[in-house]
Amino acid sequence: MELHTVILAAGQGTRMRSRLPKVLHPLAGRPMVAHVIETARELDSVAVHLVYGHGGERVTEALAEAGVRWVRQEKQLGTGHAVLQALPEIPDHALVLVLYGDVPLVRSETLRPLLELAREGAAILTTRLPDPTGYGRIVRCPDGEVSGIVEQKDASPDQLAITEINTGLLAAPAGKLKSWLQRCGNDNAQGEYYLTDIVALAVADGQRVCAVDAPDAEEVSGVNSRPQLAALERAYQRRQAEQLMLAGVTLLDPSRLDIRGTLRCGQDVSIDVNCVFEGDVELGEGVTVGPNCVLRNSRIGPHSVIESHCLIDDSTIASGCSVGPYARLRPGSQLADGARIGNFVEVKKSIIGAGSKVNHLSYIGDATLGAGVNVGAGTITCNYDGVNKHKTVIEDGAFIGSDTQLVAPVTVGRNTVVGAGTTVTRDTGEDALVVSRAPQKNIPGWRRRSR
Ligand code: UD1
Ligand code: CA
Repeated sequence: MELHTVILAAGQGTRMRSRLPKVLHPLAGRPMVAHVIETARELDSVAVHLVYGHGGERVTEALAEAGVRWVRQEKQLGTGHAVLQALPEIPDHALVLVLYGDVPLVRSETLRPLLELAREGAAILTTRLPDPTGYGRIVRCPDGEVSGIVEQKDASPDQLAITEINTGLLAAPAGKLKSWLQRCGNDNAQGEYYLTDIVALAVADGQRVCAVDAPDAEEVSGVNSRPQLAALERAYQRRQAEQLMLAGVTLLDPSRLDIRGTLRCGQDVSIDVNCVFEGDVELGEGVTVGPNCVLRNSRIGPHSVIESHCLIDDSTIASGCSVGPYARLRPGSQLADGARIGNFVEVKKSIIGAGSKVNHLSYIGDATLGAGVNVGAGTITCNYDGVNKHKTVIEDGAFIGSDTQLVAPVTVGRNTVVGAGTTVTRDTGEDALVVSRAPQKNIPGWRRRSR
């Protein structure tokens, strides 16, 4: 049976108190609804129909690349009405899965049994909550079969005592869903077309409605406010931390790790507290990351060490390298095996050759350093003339004294030594000593003037 997933995301989300539509609020660095779309894809949905309304174009623009079918719900007349808007595009023989754009953590494993059971009739995902206030309650017959769902505002005192609640997520064959929804009215406390009413209609049709119990209530909780979003963010991060540890990564504190994208790790990687990983990051075997680092779209080779407080962006680091503390690698930085970048060093779009060192307070931009180069403290590649960027080349074995300015375009040849405080404006040639220094004058017997 081909699967069509309908994601409900038209509601306003007033309690977020935000100009940003609720479903675009980020969870782990991506709009929360993007997680739901991903889950729908994992289940091999032939199409994902996204019902939107509030936030209109902001939603369609933010998710332009998501490959969903857009379904506009002009007025938010209820969850049943919302699903009905998507149905004309769905063939009767298909299976429909309804997800919520603001229930981002639900996993495909939890939904699969729902899909199996829904082939026969309808299947709803439920859970049990110590405090069910606000949720629809699952009403069962004396024989235990589900007979209906009653909303908080429509429930009798007896029904309010039920702790089994409706998560809102359900699956049913499209043809049947259509016929039930067309019969749903809005004669209820909220004057809305309730999706939940299909349960009683199905039962009246002699259809069995199966309930699948989601054991982890957090996984099926929705986001209505920012505290709830923060709680789900933590839950999501804890899930990722757990997986990493089980795969052989040491986390000094799993509650102080943030992955906003994908982090792949070799064995015996160790990550200290308060690190943020964004986009696609790969850490080779035995890599150590110190506290308070941000790594974005980067690859770190085996046994390299990233000391504390580094920002590494769109860069590649080979094996056995050492970076930081307090280093910034900007996009396009490449470190070959055994290279070392020390404190307060900024590297941009540069290649640092094998075993080369830039250990203190330097700026290396648009440069290519060969192997075994040593760059002294306070060295600056002057790569920008105010209009264009120019390249600096430092060949194998060169030694750059401290406080050197390399005015690009310029090449320092193999094994050349540049004296401290030099401003290099011309190519140096190989095996040279380069110094540009005003001769020092010592004037003896000098007395400071007094006031
Ligand atoms: C709904 C369920 C309730 C369940 C709860 C779980 C109904 C009638 N009630 O209640 O049983 O316990 O979810 O959280 O279904 N939406 C639209 N268009 C609309 C209305 C809603 O797209 O016209 C979307 C919202 O953006 C949201 C989802 O549907 O993503 C749920 O809507 P919401 O108003 O939060 O439903 P609840 O009243 O909480
Ligand atoms: Ca809700």
